[in-house]
Amino acid sequence: MIQQQQHRISIIGIGRVGLPLALVFAEKGFFVYGVDVDKNKVLVVNSGKMPFIEEGADKLLEKWRGKGFVATTDFQYATENSDTLVLTLGTPVDEHLNPIFSQIESVIKSIVYNLHAGQLIVLRSTVSPGTTEYIKRYIESNTKWKIGEDIFLAFCPERIAEGKSIEEIPHIPQIIGTLDAKSAEKAEAVFKQLTPEILHSDARSAELAKLYCNMYRYINFAIANEFMMIARQHDRDIAEVTRLVNTNYKRGGLKSPGFTAGPCLYKDGFFLVNRSPFTELITTSWKINESVPAYLIEEIKKQTSLVNKKVAILGLAFKKNIDDNRNSLAYRAKKICIAEGAKVTMHDPYLEPCDLTNVLKGADVVFIAIDHDYYRRELSLEKIAEMTNKDSLLCDIWNIFGTNKVLTRLKRPTTQQLLQEAVSSDDEESS
Ligand SMILES: NC(=O)c1ccc[n+]([C@@H]2O[C@H](COP(=O)([O-])OP(=O)(O)OC[C@H]3O[C@@H](n4cnc5c(N)ncnc54)[C@H](O)[C@@H]3O)[C@@H](O)[C@H]2O)c1
Repeated sequence: MIQQQQHRISIIGIGRVGLPLALVFAEKGFFVYGVDVDKNKVLVVNSGKMPFIEEGADKLLEKWRGKGFVATTDFQYATENSDTLVLTLGTPVDEHLNPIFSQIESVIKSIVYNLHAGQLIVLRSTVSPGTTEYIKRYIESNTKWKIGEDIFLAFCPERIAEGKSIEEIPHIPQIIGTLDAKSAEKAEAVFKQLTPEILHSDARSAELAKLYCNMYRYINFAIANEFMMIARQHDRDIAEVTRLVNTNYKRGGLKSPGFTAGPCLYKDGFFLVNRSPFTELITTSWKINESVPAYLIEEIKKQTSLVNKKVAILGLAFKKNIDDNRNSLAYRAKKICIAEGAKVTMHDPYLEPCDLTNVLKGADVVFIAIDHDYYRRELSLEKIAEMTNKDSLLCDIWNIFGTNKVLTRLKRPTTQQLLQEAVSSDDEESS
């Protein structure tokens, strides 16, 4: 049985995954060091400010900072004084789409000579299959310690949806992948305090499971995006076909199309195919999803040239209601529009909170790149038509305005309609 108050945890890398996890551990009674190389982030966090949007995290940070949670750059002090070290470092891909593990490698190299008997190392970043075995080999060949006897090692992947960690961590079964029984027991003792359901397995199966979770979603979105393109070839819209497929049919479940990207979905597939010569589905899905902006712009061009036109791109995050624009396809859309001769304005309520009216004013094309609820709330077809140029084109792959069409030609209200609207709102006010 773990006594949380006496059990210290270092979360190494207080990014989008590490910081919420650190706060959830603090809430469960552990003492947590949030370790990061980013001095500015550490300062911001210790001042009580979340460096990014994460539902429910501000309250936990306010409650635990300086008590159950301290952010620090003092890597050595924190790790030497912790019973458990959780690695939540970034694992991006390089420009050739090869996985980069330099953050993990540099941390493992730094901690290896300061480890002390009994410590548990948890790998929580998303990694290539075999990484846990690699870390075991590295530790055992550079120290006197044996994994499973002196030092314990587990791969415990994060499976939250970004922005929803605080809500989701207690409900997601925790996969624990290990190379020995004692490490499995130690990791369970820690994670059992966060979530009731633990799924034990070997480390490689757990590494694969995490990657399969993401790629399964990614491939499903690629199918939706390809079906959207095929439907348009037949002059039909995907929303209607999806309705027919999914309504009251238990083998339905077709996803809706969209801009499918972000720091995880974009790169995780390359951790799987990196050393597999004959697998095509993941890379094909990547090509389909990454090509959606170019496809939509080609469709727009069939209706209007973009030369000297104004394109307003709304939503710059990689998914809705968050402030993370890593690997967002909105920027690819922007580049293509500029190459086509358009002037581009951009808006995002969380990343580029400029005046939406100015962004839309005089636009010839409005491109909904991400379906933030904000746009559902603040805009309507009528409002967009009023602000943009006459007969502007709306590209709404997310169908947030319920047109059931990827492309909609907007009709500006006539002066008479505007007058009528004004009269009826006057009537409402006076009644
Ligand atoms: N973002 C998600 O929704 C999500 C979900 C599940 C899994 N993951 C995986 O979790 C991992 C972390 O992702 P993230 O989005 O939190 O990344 P991130 O870039 O937001 O966080 C990484 C943090 O590590 C810090 N860091 C880098 N080198 C360091 C070092 N040597 N010592 C200490 N800190 C260091 C960085 O400054 C940064 O704050 C990745 O493997 C990712 O694939 C992410």
